Amino acid sequence: MNRRIQLPRGTFDVLGDEALARETLEGQARTILERAGYERIETPAFEATELFARGVGESTDVVQKEMYTFDGGDSESITLRPEGTAPVCRAYLEHGMHKRPQPVKLWYLGAYFRRERPQKGRFRQFWQIGCEAIGSDDPAVDAETILLLAEILEAVGVTARLRISSLGMPLNRLRYRDKLQEYLRAHESELSPDVVARIDLNPLRAFDSDHAGTRAVMEGAPRLLDELDREDAEHFAAVRALLDAAGLPYDVDTTLVRGLDYYTRTVFEFTSADLGAQSGVGGGGRYDGLIEQIGGPPTPGMGWAAGVERMLLAGSLAHETAPPLDLFVAYAKPELRAAAFRLAADVRRAGHTARLELGGRSLKGQLKQADRANARYVAILGDEGTSLKDMETGEQREVETGTVMHHISRVAL
Ligand code: HAM
Repeated sequence: MNRRIQLPRGTFDVLGDEALARETLEGQARTILERAGYERIETPAFEATELFARGVGESTDVVQKEMYTFDGGDSESITLRPEGTAPVCRAYLEHGMHKRPQPVKLWYLGAYFRRERPQKGRFRQFWQIGCEAIGSDDPAVDAETILLLAEILEAVGVTARLRISSLGMPLNRLRYRDKLQEYLRAHESELSPDVVARIDLNPLRAFDSDHAGTRAVMEGAPRLLDELDREDAEHFAAVRALLDAAGLPYDVDTTLVRGLDYYTRTVFEFTSADLGAQSGVGGGGRYDGLIEQIGGPPTPGMGWAAGVERMLLAGSLAHETAPPLDLFVAYAKPELRAAAFRLAADVRRAGHTARLELGGRSLKGQLKQADRANARYVAILGDEGTSLKDMETGEQREVETGTVMHHISRVAL
């Protein structure tokens, strides 16, 4: 026998109840986002590598070691999308969306790819639901998007803690970066080699380290939030006031670090205690410099993405059930198959759920199947005509085949 081929590491198949739970989750998210005026957008699964290198940032783990990059066939380097914000911004520019009333509000749902070490809640292909509001720097946009994610998490039964912070604008951040680098260099001997190696490239990541010595040093490190300039501080205060007004609880967390480089001002993350090490269910923030970074005019933006698998793991949608079966069509002998086939098709076209025997079973086997499938009615096509059995009451009667639909309509719809 040939060797059985298995699923690639870090990926999964979606079956049965889990597929139903996903559908429910997607439906809830769609309803909440569309109610707030977000329009669906989908972009390709792969993009020019440069989009992520410039958009997400050369120094990030995502770009440095997690991208699936290959030759796209025209000697252009192509990458499976590791995230959705840079692609949505590319599409915003590509389709001249700056001419529409601003902000343009978009949402998406799709598969993303990162070459990470798989573990609970961390996959190499995972799904995200996300939204982006592009073209306005109003703090109300920040608050609205955060609120929408809170609403989705609540709808799918995820209990999560919201942490927010502000990174300020890039110039301010550069000033802060110098200060932090100076502090880290002064404590080099106590830091992990990994953090030391990145003092020049990405000193902020030091806040993310699990290394005990580094953590101790970081307790006393200067905090970006204390170094914001007046406008950035006002923006952050306005976002907080709106979240307060909406009654959404949050913690201001000065150590909040996001793994992507495009953020400016507001950043946030929802974490769930039900997830173990990969506790981030969803997060995002403002990215007022990203569109310029990828070749557009200065354009502010704000958004988030949430992991579908993590929401399902932490949430309470696991036990959804399939839609009930209105009718099972059974037939007594092969010659009646075409008539049975037609009846099932007609019933479905009329908007009911109907299934037909497809496994070559005896009539007895078919009836067992109908029972197992929890059918409300069973139509049995036989030589003498058609009989319709109400599986709830057990009552069975002879009917014209053409009237089956009429009989089940009264109950099933
Ligand atoms: P992110 O924090 O990298 O942000 O990812 C968002 C969410 O995707 C995470 O909170 C997590 O739930 C899920 N996720 C990320 N990586 C994995 C993985 N390997 N396996 C399973 N789930 C994962 C972004 O991607 C930004 N584009 C969010 C954003 C939108 N910022 C502004 N707009």
